[in-house]
Amino acid sequence: MPTPYQKVLTEIQQNPKTWLITGVAGFIGSNLLETLLNQDQHVVGLDNFSTGYRRNLDQARDLVGPEKWLRFKFFEGDIRDLPTCRRVCAEIDYVLHQAALGSVPRSLEDPIRTNENNISGFLNMLVAARDCGVKSFVYAASSSTYGDHPGLPKQENKIGNPLSPYAVTKYVNELYADVFARSYGFGTIGLRYFNVFGPRQDPDGAYAAVIPKWFAGLLRNEPVYINGDGETSRDFCYIDNCIQANILAATTLNPDAVNQVYNVAFGERTTLNELFRMIRDLVAEVSPEVAEIKPVYRDFRPGDVRHSLADIGKAQKMIFYVPVFSVGQGLKRAAKWYCSSLTKCGTLNTKSAF
Ligand SMILES: NC(=O)c1ccc[n+]([C@@H]2O[C@H](COP(=O)([O-])OP(=O)(O)OC[C@H]3O[C@@H](n4cnc5c(N)ncnc54)[C@H](O)[C@@H]3O)[C@@H](O)[C@H]2O)c1
Repeated sequence: MPTPYQKVLTEIQQNPKTWLITGVAGFIGSNLLETLLNQDQHVVGLDNFSTGYRRNLDQARDLVGPEKWLRFKFFEGDIRDLPTCRRVCAEIDYVLHQAALGSVPRSLEDPIRTNENNISGFLNMLVAARDCGVKSFVYAASSSTYGDHPGLPKQENKIGNPLSPYAVTKYVNELYADVFARSYGFGTIGLRYFNVFGPRQDPDGAYAAVIPKWFAGLLRNEPVYINGDGETSRDFCYIDNCIQANILAATTLNPDAVNQVYNVAFGERTTLNELFRMIRDLVAEVSPEVAEIKPVYRDFRPGDVRHSLADIGKAQKMIFYVPVFSVGQGLKRAAKWYCSSLTKCGTLNTKSAF
């Protein structure tokens, strides 16, 4: 019996669509690109390379092969520019809007730039997509919207006060999306991602996420830091689960599923201490000397929530989202990629994909 996701993949393969991915040179965007091209879709991509890389596009091209790559059209440009948004939205069936400046600490240091990219850019994309009459608009929302709400697991309708400028921007996206549905009848779906991880997630820079940072730190023989006591927990979600949610959301035929936000996670909680041990054990398989390394504990980070765990029941019920990869399975795949992509000198090697 094929799953609803397998059915959708078969359907779009038989009847290919044109997708727009903003933020296509980023971690999630380039993985969406790779999957959609492998499903014989036409893809338009937009990116300004502020946090994304050409090497991510190069790797997607190497993985899908030259024939499928011909179905991809790339625009270098910025969502803060409305004419650019209009240009890329022309003739598009489904929009997967990923472009934004991520990271809570970055937003605390530079709230203005975060606001411009994440709110003004988002609004431009909504206007352009509405005016071009796209069939659906799916956007990257965030678990940071739960803010200081203490409830666990997190349910979509119970949110607290945002704890960072980044969280404000992602919440404002949801408010605008809702108003566009009421005011213009323009339907959207927001996916509140919970700590997505996987190949091509950037391990470098001050704002890198914990999983790539720790893989790189262990592989490069650098200290690995844990902010706080390590009992902070997160619902880490492997990239393939996130891709599934995007494709199911974009193609849903259920009108009640639109104008909604959904948690996108695996639905299990892992502490940072547990995560460290899992990553260390995987890296020790290729570098046995890593097995005895201990993390360095330092202060809690401002703006971080203590625990995060998603209730994924709404996405399961409304768009038939069924995450397939557990944290452990995802980490194994991510380990393979980081171990083969981080060269001996510690930089990312774009050519050796897997
Ligand atoms: N990775 C996660 O765990 C996570 C969690 C919650 C939400 N999100 C959201 O998912 C989306 C994708 O995140 P990611 O992890 O792939 O980050 P990423 O930084 O790897 O990708 C974002 C991409 O958007 C591009 N971009 C940024 N501003 C732009 C602009 N003004 N115009 C055009 N392109 C622009 C960047 O160059 C980059 O390629 C973001 O909206 C992020 O806020 C991610």
